[in-house]
Amino acid sequence: MLETVKYLIGSRGASGFGSKSTAEQVTETCPDLRSITAIITGATSGIGAETARVLAKRGARLVLPARNVKAAEEAKARIVSEFPDSEILVMALDLSSLSSVRNFVLEFESFNLPLNLLVNNAGKFAHEHAISEDGIEMTFATNYIGHFLLTKLLLNKMIKTARQSGVQGRIVNVSSSIHGWFSGDMIHYLGQISRNKSQYDATRAYALSKLANVLHTKELAQRLKQVDANVTVNCVHPGIVRTRLTREREGLITDLVFFLASKLLKTIPQAAATTCYVATHPRLVNVSGKYFADCNEAWTSKLGSNSNEAARLWAASEIMVSRHPKQFLIRLRPSIMTSRKLM
Ligand SMILES: NC(=O)c1ccc[n+]([C@@H]2O[C@H](COP(=O)([O-])OP(=O)(O)OC[C@H]3O[C@@H](n4cnc5c(N)ncnc54)[C@H](OP(=O)(O)O)[C@@H]3O)[C@@H](O)[C@H]2O)c1
Repeated sequence: MLETVKYLIGSRGASGFGSKSTAEQVTETCPDLRSITAIITGATSGIGAETARVLAKRGARLVLPARNVKAAEEAKARIVSEFPDSEILVMALDLSSLSSVRNFVLEFESFNLPLNLLVNNAGKFAHEHAISEDGIEMTFATNYIGHFLLTKLLLNKMIKTARQSGVQGRIVNVSSSIHGWFSGDMIHYLGQISRNKSQYDATRAYALSKLANVLHTKELAQRLKQVDANVTVNCVHPGIVRTRLTREREGLITDLVFFLASKLLKTIPQAAATTCYVATHPRLVNVSGKYFADCNEAWTSKLGSNSNEAARLWAASEIMVSRHPKQFLIRLRPSIMTSRKLM
């Protein structure tokens, strides 16, 4: 109750920011980002577009991968019209396809750019059941497994950039508080909905993918620490905001839900604040493996803080991004889970 009141009045937490802080406000005192190269997924609309706009305003060089390259070029044009000095590269990437992720990374590497910041923001909240070309349920494939592979393939570049520049690299995974709605056996449920639609529940599948973002953060933070990499990873809940995320649900009922929840909704600049805070704020140097909401550290669900579950998901993810993704449907052997190698 107290938390809801604090949220509604925008009370500031330990960071000095709160639910009503905007992305521009939280980056006002951040260092000049002109030496920073950032990849932001899902920057064609909503939270990602505002994150890109504000990071460009602060001087960062941006790489915007998108499945809809035309929409990304339009997003770029909007930013450039506001900040003519911005340096923005648009590239093709469909996160639901592992081969598209691999192609994107190959193309990105061909530019020989450094990489300081990776914002894994793209997401979908599918209404209809679908399976990706790799045999994985579509929401999970897009929101989590595509980002898992993307991060894995870019990690060496980030570690190298941090070593050469002396600037700590940062990875920000955009999750959601809805991760706490998932209970049960993650891999089992993923297996069920990746086989057929009989057990498919759109909200449960979305919550599963967002829980996976939280566990990915936790496990990756451990692995980065073990190899002494100067790169951190954290995840965020941006808050609830009306964007194109609910595009497959447009209609009277959705309008009514948003109307009833209107007092709890954020604006897009407010919703991009936590991502921008975690991506840039000097206070967060060396902070890794944490979950943030309203620009302050927050608690995850019990399952979201379970290290065994994080290691188990990692092992399953390694199988999914291997050349035989469907093998994750076969029960994971304990031996797969014991080794903790970064890549
Ligand atoms: N809105 C909320 O209330 C809320 C709450 C909690 C968490 N979040 C999270 O915030 C993030 C941003 O969502 P949003 O609300 O800003 O939604 P949005 O406006 O729909 O933006 C989603 C972005 O993801 C991109 N995307 C979707 N599928 C993709 C794919 N297969 N490959 C590459 N890009 C893809 C979209 O690109 P296209 O232009 O191609 O569609 C779009 O740029 C998501 O991770 C979401 O789960 C949102």
